Amino acid sequence: MDTKNYYITTPIYYPSGKPHMGHAYSSIVADVIARYKRLEGYKVYFLTGTDEHGLKIQREAEKNKKDTQKFCDELSEKFKELTKILNLSNNDFIRTTENRHHKSVEDLWNKLVQSGDIYLDKYKGWYSVSDEAYYDDDEIEEKEGLKISKLSGSKVEWVEEESYFFKLSAWNKKLLDVYKSNPSFILPVARKNEVVKFVEKGLKDLSVSRTSFSWGIPVPKNNKHIIYVWLDALTNYLSALNYPDVSSDLYKKYWPADLHIIGKDILRFHAIYWPAFLMAAKLPLPKRIFGHGWILSDEKKMSKSLGNILDPLDIIKNYGIDQLRYYLIKEVSLGNDGNVSLENLKNCINNDLANNYGNLCQRVFAFLKKNCNNKIPKNTSLTNEGKLLTNKLKKDIKKLNEFINEQDLNNYIKQVIEYSFDSNKYFNDSEPWSLKKTDVKKMNSILYSIVEQIKNISILLLPIMPISANKILDIINVKKEHRNIGEIDNNKSLNHDKELGNIEILFKKVE
Ligand code: MSP
Repeated sequence: MDTKNYYITTPIYYPSGKPHMGHAYSSIVADVIARYKRLEGYKVYFLTGTDEHGLKIQREAEKNKKDTQKFCDELSEKFKELTKILNLSNNDFIRTTENRHHKSVEDLWNKLVQSGDIYLDKYKGWYSVSDEAYYDDDEIEEKEGLKISKLSGSKVEWVEEESYFFKLSAWNKKLLDVYKSNPSFILPVARKNEVVKFVEKGLKDLSVSRTSFSWGIPVPKNNKHIIYVWLDALTNYLSALNYPDVSSDLYKKYWPADLHIIGKDILRFHAIYWPAFLMAAKLPLPKRIFGHGWILSDEKKMSKSLGNILDPLDIIKNYGIDQLRYYLIKEVSLGNDGNVSLENLKNCINNDLANNYGNLCQRVFAFLKKNCNNKIPKNTSLTNEGKLLTNKLKKDIKKLNEFINEQDLNNYIKQVIEYSFDSNKYFNDSEPWSLKKTDVKKMNSILYSIVEQIKNISILLLPIMPISANKILDIINVKKEHRNIGEIDNNKSLNHDKELGNIEILFKKVE
């Protein structure tokens, strides 16, 4: 039974500004996988939330002349709203300012102290508040008189203060063993190779506390120190499962996590620090960390100064949430950087949704209304072409499962939309309208195959476009309990007695 549980997480977001397309992308990717695994029969726990401690947030609140907690409450609410707008199916929304999280971080800290992995010393080096990350001298360059990180381009400042350190160097070899013994621990492979190269150069101990500000979780028994925000933030994946209560149902069912979805910029924290902390605390490691690429606009990273920001909220308002979800998954190959533009979004809506899937449903349902008493004909003798069409999809299920399990969402969606294209072609080529007077039996059999195909395509589209695909399944009266991957091979889930629901245009063409 245990193997049927699945735990997937998004990064928790800094609530320091408005949610943008990068946030929407991380969340939509995780949601698509969560929804698919549920359709496959898994009990899924899907977590998202906000990362609210640290100097970055404290300074942002000060800039806005707001009490820090109040500032976090307001902005975290925006991210919570975004989960509704993006139609995420998350089971929980964690905030690092919650008490349950506080307890969890303290416990993990104590475990690291007990294992002898924490010691007190002095930190001297570079820190980027924007990345909440420490950098070595060789990772810094000077640009226009400013010291910046070569990796992220963000400004760094010199820090000298008493600090607790985590013995990261002691985990160097163990980490390399993990990467070697589990080749899909970090994906995509190119990202894994970067991490391996970095760790092979040798890891230094990591500063895990700060004394120069107060917004965070104090170090137990020495509250002059605040726990480093990344040690705090990463622990969210455990606190949502009631850690340190390891006998709780949630923890037992869902830890270790199956998949952490993150952006490539935060790979180092997840693929190096996180497993090292967990190993030191003698806790099992997550099964996989997948680092997706950047969403680019005009081939550049979106930024206010470049004026190339595509606001997810505007897009959803103008074009619809299912449209945005479909477009992002289809356009960007997960793992690589991907360019998005309004022009391409519109083309995608028109070509794939309005002219292909939408048109297929529309014309077939209209045909049934006019010629088949608005009901789905029974499957009498199927034509060879009809059988070929529906059998291909059924045979492909294994491959489609693999696409999802390898996080290859892009190829998954391309395959699914191709079934829709083929169904449209079959409808055109077999000309059922010309058979109405001559061979009703054949006409019915053609229609049967196409409706069965629409049902199965719609089930496969549920993770990506839950609202639209459910509407189609409503129209053809597929019961809620039949909307899953296991039912794809089950012809009984089609109802031949009930009239089809009202047809509405799901995907309008856009200009
Ligand atoms: N708070 C940390 C994560 C802690 S997880 C324990 C953080 N937050 S963030 O709000 O800055 O970013 C969250 C996610 O959004 C990251 O995965 C990041 O990669 C992603 N994106 C932010 N901008 C992006 C793009 N332009 N494109 C794609 N994703 C990017 O980091």
